[in-house]
Amino acid sequence: MATEAAAPTARERERGAMRRAVALSARGLGSTSPNPVVGCVVLDAAGRIVGEGWHRRAGGPHAEVHALAEAGEAARGGTAVVTLEPCDHTGRTGPCSRALIDAGVTRVVYAVADPTPAARGGADTLAAAGIDVEGGLLAEEAAEVNAPWLTSVRLGRPYVRWKYAATLDGRTAAADGTSRWITSGEARADVHRLRAEADAVLVGSGTARADDPHLAVRGVPGAVQPLRVVADTEARAVHPGARVLDGAAPTLVAVADDLPDAATAHLDGHAEVLRLPRAGGHGGGHGRGLDVTALLTALHGRGVRSVLLEGGATLAGAFVAARAVDRVTAYLAPALLGAGPAALADAGIATIADALRLTVTAIERTGPDLRIDAVPAASASAASAASAPAPAVHEPKES
Ligand SMILES: NC(=O)c1ccc[n+]([C@@H]2O[C@H](COP(=O)([O-])OP(=O)(O)OC[C@H]3O[C@@H](n4cnc5c(N)ncnc54)[C@H](OP(=O)(O)O)[C@@H]3O)[C@@H](O)[C@H]2O)c1
Repeated sequence: MATEAAAPTARERERGAMRRAVALSARGLGSTSPNPVVGCVVLDAAGRIVGEGWHRRAGGPHAEVHALAEAGEAARGGTAVVTLEPCDHTGRTGPCSRALIDAGVTRVVYAVADPTPAARGGADTLAAAGIDVEGGLLAEEAAEVNAPWLTSVRLGRPYVRWKYAATLDGRTAAADGTSRWITSGEARADVHRLRAEADAVLVGSGTARADDPHLAVRGVPGAVQPLRVVADTEARAVHPGARVLDGAAPTLVAVADDLPDAATAHLDGHAEVLRLPRAGGHGGGHGRGLDVTALLTALHGRGVRSVLLEGGATLAGAFVAARAVDRVTAYLAPALLGAGPAALADAGIATIADALRLTVTAIERTGPDLRIDAVPAASASAASAASAPAPAVHEPKES
């Protein structure tokens, strides 16, 4: 005999709405920088979804504004469920705290407290207006999607995801140098999605020379093209005619700041040239190429909040040595080579006690290959710290 399912409680509806809001927020990845990604769902007084929205691009309306517009009068007496504490400042758009008060919602549930001095305080403003405010619902899920932005706020540099493709024994090419294609078409299509989510895609001069990579996004409808960046200290790897210099996306070639102007003349009109100190100075790298910290600081200064580091092994080693890798995404093909270059070159780690330990966050199949995502073990706790709700409001614990 069929039994009637119990109606969801208000709490279950809010959790469901937050799950939806987190999914909506992810749609903004790659197009909102320097802003965070945010999703919002508005429930009416009876707990039904009446509005949805997400922040689509910097300068455009915030998620709350989209969701409230869709909800209209149905928002009155309802609940706004939002992945980030509503902002309290007037930037290119007005404060969301004001929009929520004007819309007449009586409750606001958010996941992650806003860590920025300029925008924080929305929860207090809402509470002062008599709105019931709660922070911390599904905070970890929301913080994971917003990790690039939260990391860049915390560290003052872009979030770096290092991606590589290797055989099961960790080789990225065969002994004779052949490497196309180690992984499947499905894995390569997935990489285009990662590029679309990133503000910049970076390779070293070795990869630029060996592969003549294009680095733009293909096959992802509506994608915003990332900035293509080549770390080419001596300005010798990127030549006119290189695929990275076509018009598909903007390109920046990072070179040493002591090169004469003539050394970069061939790039004039084809790419922007960024002059940086060589490694071996105050930070980043371990004695070759460009200063990793200076490169990341310069990119951050241009609004880049997330970088997809696509290799090769030498540059990735420098990033690991500089503790500037926040996520590793490995595509492992079920194949063995036994010889050939390893995925990661010297990272300044000489003994097992110093190994960079990672926590695996996801394992999935991409066609015949495996995709493994992992984050430095220490940063798992940092991410939950970043997602801690603001102290001023009522914060029940989620089980
Ligand atoms: N399977 C994969 O996932 C994958 C991905 C990418 C590449 N690859 C393969 O990897 C090979 C290239 O890798 P690679 O290791 O030779 O080259 P790479 O890592 O792409 O580039 C290394 C070069 O980058 C420059 N660089 C600038 N700043 C640096 C810094 N701080 N630290 C270190 N290097 C810095 C250095 O040359 P200058 O100082 O002279 O500029 C260095 O020699 C290619 O065969 C490519 O096919 C495989």
